[in-house]
Amino acid sequence: MTVVTTLRTDELRPVLVTGGAGFIGANFVLDWCAGQDVPVVTLDKLTYAGNLHNLAGLHGNERHSFVRGDIGDVDFVRTLLSRIKPRAIVNFAAESHVDRSILGPEDFITTNIVGTFRLLETAREYWTGLPQREKESFRFLHVSTDEVYGSLTPEADPFHEASPYSPNSPYSASKAASDHLVRAWHHTYGLPVIITNCSNNYGPYQFPEKLIPLMIHHALAGKPLPVYGDGQQIRDWLYVSDHCAAIRAVLREGQPGHTYAIGGDSEKSNIDVVRTICDALDQERPSAKGSYGQYITFVPDRPGHDRRYAINAGKIRQMLGWRPRESFESGLRKTVRWYLDNAAWTDSVVAGSYRDWLGRNYSAR
Ligand code: NAD
Ligand code: TYD
Repeated sequence: MTVVTTLRTDELRPVLVTGGAGFIGANFVLDWCAGQDVPVVTLDKLTYAGNLHNLAGLHGNERHSFVRGDIGDVDFVRTLLSRIKPRAIVNFAAESHVDRSILGPEDFITTNIVGTFRLLETAREYWTGLPQREKESFRFLHVSTDEVYGSLTPEADPFHEASPYSPNSPYSASKAASDHLVRAWHHTYGLPVIITNCSNNYGPYQFPEKLIPLMIHHALAGKPLPVYGDGQQIRDWLYVSDHCAAIRAVLREGQPGHTYAIGGDSEKSNIDVVRTICDALDQERPSAKGSYGQYITFVPDRPGHDRRYAINAGKIRQMLGWRPRESFESGLRKTVRWYLDNAAWTDSVVAGSYRDWLGRNYSAR
């Protein structure tokens, strides 16, 4: 177990954030520490997707502690919970990349299903031993995805909390399984769980194997921008800090046993997203070689590729008053600028094993 800063749980019981060194988790921890006094303990296995540099801004912050470990390691998590006595667990920890799940699903089963099961059991044991008042206020918030609902036709209404589960990829199937476990731990044992199902996120610190950072990185390097299939697949994009604000609202005011669908009300086709990135780069970092759009290349499609995702976020808007602050245009511009200003971050994460990944995912296309 690595403790980077000293645990200070004497004043306020902390929130335990699992997967907090990844893309959304790190944004959540950074935003949290900027906005409130409740301490945070980040637990992360530091897989290829986890990066302690994402949390470098918190170095020396007494309200933040980092612990390296696996959500599926029961003894380790049990010891941690009894030491830090969290008021809530926010579970971001997961294998999260659809393409990786297609080429190697086992890690997705291990972390997303078995890991979530073990975390639930360890959390239940801890929660059972809490005094009544703390038991009532404890929350287990499981961060999930809209991909559990499957694919929408062009005319279909967006997904909402009561949409049937119909996952299509090893990733979404493993997340769906984890959602079912979380729900059952509430129904059977009374564990005060909440599930959030969010649409595609983008923003700072996203690992550059996902669409938006990959396209920015490739464009700046003058490499092909690989658009799968016809590029007409649709995703509902949400700026990451808006997702983090939604999770804070759910943690504060969400009802145990409920799920909340979160989305940006911002449906875009992949080809439109890539063109918008190229336009933004043409303005922010014009190239002597001409428009970045020249690098767009259509490549063979992802197997089983979901055609359209979209979320109706009416429940969280009405019940909790949450709404996104960024439009797709403003959020994308911020994101492009962040990647331009933080080239060293991208350079450090694309070194080494990332190159092997590009070879594995794109050489056969
Ligand atoms: P990510 O891959 O960037 O981060 C995942 C983090 O979890 C990494 O830091 C990794 O080291 C850590 N981790 C993996 N296995 C672990 C384990 N066994 N124990 C402890 N830590 C472990 O993912 P992300 O994009 O930040 O997504 C976070 C969560 O949000 C995931 O559960 C994902 O399903 C969900 N989600 C993501 C999106 C999106 O667009 N990225 C949208 C909706 C929901
Ligand atoms: P991705 O960022 O992998 O997220 P998800 O699969 O969870 O939605 O991909 C977003 C969309 O972009 C998806 O429809 C697949 C597509 N895509 C490409 O066209 N080319 C690429 O190189 C990547 C990584 C994704």
